[in-house]
Amino acid sequence: MISSHDARLRSVIVGLGCYLPSRILSNADLEKTLDTTDEWIVQRTGIRQRHIAGEEERTSTLGLKAARAALADAGLNADDIDLVIVATSTPDYTFPAVATQIQAGLGMLGGVAFDLQAVCSGFVFAVATADKFLVSGSHRRALVIGAETFSRILDWNDRATCVLFGDGAGAVILEAREGNGTTADRGVLTTHLRSDGRHRDKLYVDGGPSSTRTTGHLRMEGREVFRHAVSMVTDVVQAAFASTGTTAEDLDWFVPHQANRRIIDASAEKLGIASEKVVTTVDLHGNTSAASVPLALCVARNDGRIKPGDLVMIEAMGGGFTWGAALIRW
Ligand code: UT7
Repeated sequence: MISSHDARLRSVIVGLGCYLPSRILSNADLEKTLDTTDEWIVQRTGIRQRHIAGEEERTSTLGLKAARAALADAGLNADDIDLVIVATSTPDYTFPAVATQIQAGLGMLGGVAFDLQAVCSGFVFAVATADKFLVSGSHRRALVIGAETFSRILDWNDRATCVLFGDGAGAVILEAREGNGTTADRGVLTTHLRSDGRHRDKLYVDGGPSSTRTTGHLRMEGREVFRHAVSMVTDVVQAAFASTGTTAEDLDWFVPHQANRRIIDASAEKLGIASEKVVTTVDLHGNTSAASVPLALCVARNDGRIKPGDLVMIEAMGGGFTWGAALIRW
């Protein structure tokens, strides 16, 4: 039986990087082609603009740039990494994985690289997966990337969905380090993942290799997704608090998935998390799916909010449905 003060491995974040395509699409730009208004989009979602990948950019291009930034931030080389996990629902190709393309792009000759698909929850799922590899002792340093080009799977005539999403990528490097097994340790302290496939029809892409043989477009029953989102994310966040004996007061930063300002505010309120601890980037990035949490981490770390030793809760919810949370000591 392991006591709560035994030495154990922790997955510590030692590097962080992100990349946003240079083209910005504002709500005013969308007003020109769609029956929508800046006022509607801001009121219902909090989104003011989103970044859109250039014609030559792919999910792997965005992810590679975020990966290089994370390596530089950590002062590490590609050879120092032995595990690459890319969370994405918008791969360049059906196969091979975006992760192996990024592995090659970094010039990595060793290690293992694979993609993970949990839609908007992908980054949280990938952090949890990398954590399992690292604390088992099988791998030493993981590059975990959330990278998406959702602009490529949107129906640009569907105002109910196309105004919501954007492109981007974010990456962290996790390193296995010895901890004491307490919540004072740096690193991933706990992860909680859930899924429920009965909700498939509420958020999905209507194409794929083995069904339509096309890529398809994103379809969503927004109101239904909204209805489930708050209770699902608050459940897993509360599970993370309970399993570590921490509370909303102990938290320094709440970094939620960035889908809708109203979902973020309602979740924080239900959890009793003070609004000044909530990191919000949905206004500038829109919903970048698996990239949204690492992009938000980047913004809050780079502007000096998130500091070493801070207690940070990340969470996300998305298609499947999938949902999850991770509590991390920065
Ligand atoms: O990443 C994970 C998953 N995604 C989410 O978490 C998204 C969850 N859902 C949402 O964020 C919200 O449900 C939306 C932002 C998608 C929609 O907001 P809502 O308050 O639930 O609006 P609604 O879907 O109930 O639509 C209200 C009205 C409708 O018109 P009627 O039927 O009342 O006449 C829509 O046709 O707003 C209309 N509408 C729009 N009007 C102007 C829908 N999209 C637009 C638009 N511009 N872009």
